[in-house]
Amino acid sequence: MVDITDSINVQAISEGVSSARLARDLAYLAALGARDDGGVARLALDTSDIQARRWLTEQASTLGATASVDAIGNVFLDLPGREPALAPVVTGSHLDSQPTGGRYDGALGVVAGLEALRAIRDTGVTLRRSLSLVSWTNEEGARFAPGTSGSAVFCGVRGIDETRAIRDTDGLTLGSALDECLATLEADGIARRPLGTPMHAFIELHIEQGPILEAAGAPVGVVEGIQGVSWFEVTVTGSANHAGTTPRAMRRDALEGACALATSLREIARDEADCVRFTIGKFAVSPGSVNTIPDQVTFTIDLRHPKAATLESLATSFQRLAEQSWAGCEAMLTPLSRIAPVEFPASLTALLSDTAEDLGLKAPRLMSGAFHDAIHLAGHCPTAMVFVPCRGGLSHHPNENVELNDAVSGTRLLAASLARLCA
Ligand code: GLV
Ligand code: MN
Ligand code: MN
Repeated sequence: MVDITDSINVQAISEGVSSARLARDLAYLAALGARDDGGVARLALDTSDIQARRWLTEQASTLGATASVDAIGNVFLDLPGREPALAPVVTGSHLDSQPTGGRYDGALGVVAGLEALRAIRDTGVTLRRSLSLVSWTNEEGARFAPGTSGSAVFCGVRGIDETRAIRDTDGLTLGSALDECLATLEADGIARRPLGTPMHAFIELHIEQGPILEAAGAPVGVVEGIQGVSWFEVTVTGSANHAGTTPRAMRRDALEGACALATSLREIARDEADCVRFTIGKFAVSPGSVNTIPDQVTFTIDLRHPKAATLESLATSFQRLAEQSWAGCEAMLTPLSRIAPVEFPASLTALLSDTAEDLGLKAPRLMSGAFHDAIHLAGHCPTAMVFVPCRGGLSHHPNENVELNDAVSGTRLLAASLARLCA
């Protein structure tokens, strides 16, 4: 339990959080890349994502903060503390979305961080450490795979050149989309900042994207860690021929092979405890003609588990399966990315739990099934996360929904915890 008489008045800070400002900012962002079905399609570095970043930098002046952007497009707002030489405390998330995304995945963490900075500033107290808000570039990986580009490059986990070279399905590189974004921000007068700057701590608020907190009737949750994730691409190659004339024995149908392989991969990933998460989310058939036998199928695998050893052994099994012949076709499995599971430090999760208790918020502990930029930050500085429940555990869907009261509770916990870390 943190001493409630400590120098930071957590009650005053938490009461400074404005639900009206939170609702207004969420509505503003929901309009950028809005879909007709109520969801959001704000793909990394597209026009609406660039607009969202500009909006964020525009918040700096009323906040009394300085806006800056680094070489991978991460946007920062820095609120100076009494001792600016000390490493800052940082919060934030991402502004890009899935193509059929909701209004809260990522956006809530940025808006909550902004509101937390405002609530702290409104108390009139200047904290010892500086406080920064960040929006990381391309967390989703929906347009440019793999995701978490901004945080991975910032933390030195991936190189900037390899990241700039990633192409979207139109063949456009992340680098060229990024250059357009950087030029826009430069024209707005936003200063450039270095990558990899030291941080005292990083706290990311995010929607849970799962059903646990809603079922527990809790307005917030304290995240203990993030499960690991491996992405693969599988290519199955057969040969194209006439659909009407080619007898079965003479076919090398890439789709037949891909379906059989996909089923075997799924079977080998099945576990009694239902801990393994296995998803084939993209499946492309080529040449894509009604009356031509497919000669190539490409599909992706998203594999997740809290234990690195399980991910390793499944990857080995996948590779063995890919080496076999599938309906006379050859398969090739290529690892696209691998992010190891992380456990957040007990000192930070305890600070979040104690602060939640001081604010009278029920805050169960849970693991994150989704990955977040915090997974890379965990190797850069002490890192932790706050979750807010979402209706029906639904996410990566236009109907994603969060109760405003829960968003406010999460922001209160975030603001009070950030202030304690800055003291
Ligand atoms: C993040 O968007 C994830 O897929 O976990
Ligand atoms: Mn997210
Ligand atoms: Mn997401």
